[in-house]
Amino acid sequence: MVSFSRPPIHTIQGPHRSIPVFTDPGIVSNIDHRVVKSFAEEWKAFHHFTDEETEHISRHYFDILKDLLRGDMHVIDIGCGSGRWSKWISGRVASVTAVDPGESILAADELLAPVSNVQLAMVGADDMPFADHTFDLALSVGVLHHVPDTLRAMTECVRVVKPGGLFYIYLYYDLGNRGVTYRVLFRIADALRRIISRLPRVPRHAVCTSIALLVYYPVARGGELMRRAGATRLADRMPLCFYQEQTFYVMRNDALDRFGTSLEQRFSRDEVRNMMEAAGLRDITFSDGMPWWHAVGRKPGENT
Ligand SMILES: C[S@@+](CC[C@H](N)C(=O)[O-])C[C@H]1O[C@@H](n2cnc3c(N)ncnc32)[C@H](O)[C@@H]1O
Repeated sequence: MVSFSRPPIHTIQGPHRSIPVFTDPGIVSNIDHRVVKSFAEEWKAFHHFTDEETEHISRHYFDILKDLLRGDMHVIDIGCGSGRWSKWISGRVASVTAVDPGESILAADELLAPVSNVQLAMVGADDMPFADHTFDLALSVGVLHHVPDTLRAMTECVRVVKPGGLFYIYLYYDLGNRGVTYRVLFRIADALRRIISRLPRVPRHAVCTSIALLVYYPVARGGELMRRAGATRLADRMPLCFYQEQTFYVMRNDALDRFGTSLEQRFSRDEVRNMMEAAGLRDITFSDGMPWWHAVGRKPGENT
């Protein structure tokens, strides 16, 4: 395990471990505390990912990363949420440090109970208690579009990567590669998000489950039927086509993720590339597959 560069402010007791807390909510930094709280509520409700489910989704998320993983790597999962990707990667690398600034870390402790090469910490992306050049790989999966200043957070993530090490990111795309109808539907969905994300927890979760049932499920299953009938290109262009292969549990979770979150930013592929370069990364590889955009870059220097 890697060591922390400063002592924690205090510790909290998770279901299985004592977790060091480094986040000081009194200090305003590059973090949206409302977003962090809503995710803690989300991961409290959704933390029963089976290994099969995670493995299935990982084929999309980590298509460009899986062949770069090595058994001697020390990895940090920044904004780990439920801990599903920390768990997935823990069997492929030497150690994983899973960090999240909110009480999501308690859900991660639950999911990661059987995993021995993982340590947890409650801390955000921009005040991480690690020396420069600590990790062989930093992951940030669906996190940095929920912070006020994405580039600043990305730069801090890259700071803790060793020269020659890797940084993997998934950020929401800006729909630049979609047609007009799709974009209009998105505008409507986005207006709904702004309203739904302000609701208290119980109605927010209920509305999002209804959206999963009444919109995600029929649209995704309709697309799946088209695909089976051979209309693959049409199925690929359907809204929510990512969910054609996903379970209803994943749809419910993602509907809450999508509509329950007050701050989200979206980026073009060029914007993601520019930010990665500005954060000091080179050899940047994007996946053409969904979810858009996910990319991996290397920090220049000696190979680790
Ligand atoms: C959409 S969830 C993604 C969780 C996980 N990476 C996954 O893909 O399952 C976003 C997570 O980012 C965390 N987060 C929000 N602001 C953050 C920040 N400034 N630094 C690190 N994590 C943050 C939230 O608490 C939440 O758990």
